[in-house]
Amino acid sequence: KMLARSAARVLAAPQTRLFSASAAHRTKVAVLGAGGGIGQPLSLLLKSDPLVTSLSLYDIRGAPGVAADVSHVDTGSEVQGYAADQLDQALEGVKVVVIPAGVPRKPGMTRDDLFNTNASIVRDLASAVGRVAPDAHILVISNPVNSTVPIVAATLEKAGVFDPRRVFGVTTLDVVRAARFLAGVVGATPAETAVTVVGGHSGPTIVPLLSQTKLGKDVKGEVYDKLVHRIQYGGDEVVKAKDGAGSATLSMAYAGAKFTNTLLQGLNGEKGVVAPTFVKSPLFVDQGIDFFSSNVELGPNGVEKIHPLGELSAEEEKLLAACLPELKKNIEKGKAFVA
Ligand code: NAD
Ligand code: LMR
Repeated sequence: KMLARSAARVLAAPQTRLFSASAAHRTKVAVLGAGGGIGQPLSLLLKSDPLVTSLSLYDIRGAPGVAADVSHVDTGSEVQGYAADQLDQALEGVKVVVIPAGVPRKPGMTRDDLFNTNASIVRDLASAVGRVAPDAHILVISNPVNSTVPIVAATLEKAGVFDPRRVFGVTTLDVVRAARFLAGVVGATPAETAVTVVGGHSGPTIVPLLSQTKLGKDVKGEVYDKLVHRIQYGGDEVVKAKDGAGSATLSMAYAGAKFTNTLLQGLNGEKGVVAPTFVKSPLFVDQGIDFFSSNVELGPNGVEKIHPLGELSAEEEKLLAACLPELKKNIEKGKAFVA
């Protein structure tokens, strides 16, 4: 549906070439970590997105092969793969950079356990983006998102090119799961059960606002508790089922492509484009928390407006109270790493 909505408009537009000088149609998207479990299906989905006119695939291994493969798909975009020593070339002229590079969890690990490996990967990639494509929008998938987003922001800040309107933590998988799981509980289709999920992206920091949805507001008691737990710990279900082979890749690729498309709609000037995403946010600054996921209106410059949370139920107030201290810790850990 997301592709269909924008297909007509964009297919009517002239196809741009790689490194095109035409600013109006330059929608070059890079995937850093394109050879991985998320990166490969994400690259395929982005190849099918008519709002992506050029796709730049980078990884420390395997990206040229993925690019050769994906490039045969008969959609308009051009695809180029880059080897380990070609990061700067991969970032030339990109408008949007999606980052799924880094190691995934194994059973028994938390997302925070990935920090030691992924923090430096994300910092180094962000630093390259700041140098080569300082105006690009950066979409961070690599975990722990609650820390990797502050790492990207602090790295860009150090380089003097941080714009809070252009750095996003991708929390869309939580939104996708919430809609899917609520649909199952109430016997509806996910199109009818969209849920705003706020906070961060790990267990207790994931706060679904079920009270604000027509079909979710009457879910109570044990059914409610189980539903919230499933939304908060959906990632664990996949990690456990994959039994050591990694975490969510296919549903994450779907979620990553969905959020990228949403951002591109905003960048293209479409009105009323709103989605939850983890950004530099004023909502809880008075509590020392300066990154938070809530509904964000996206426009030609990225973040246009950060929506307040709206009315919360007593249960949601409790979830939020549990979220904030954990989120604060995660954010501070990311900042300390760069400092
Ligand atoms: P994976 O191991 O299958 O793929 C990761 C890829 O990153 C590999 O191809 C690897 O070569 C590449 N890579 C490593 N260092 C790199 C570097 N410096 N530059 C470029 N590429 C590099 O892992 P995956 O399953 O695709 O998961 C990737 C990350 O996404 C993990 O951190 C995982 O926790 C996270 N994730 C986030 C969400 C979310 O909701 N935000 C969902 C699922 C997974
Ligand atoms: C998810 O929510 O599936 C991802 O964050 C991957 C993970 O580690 O669970």
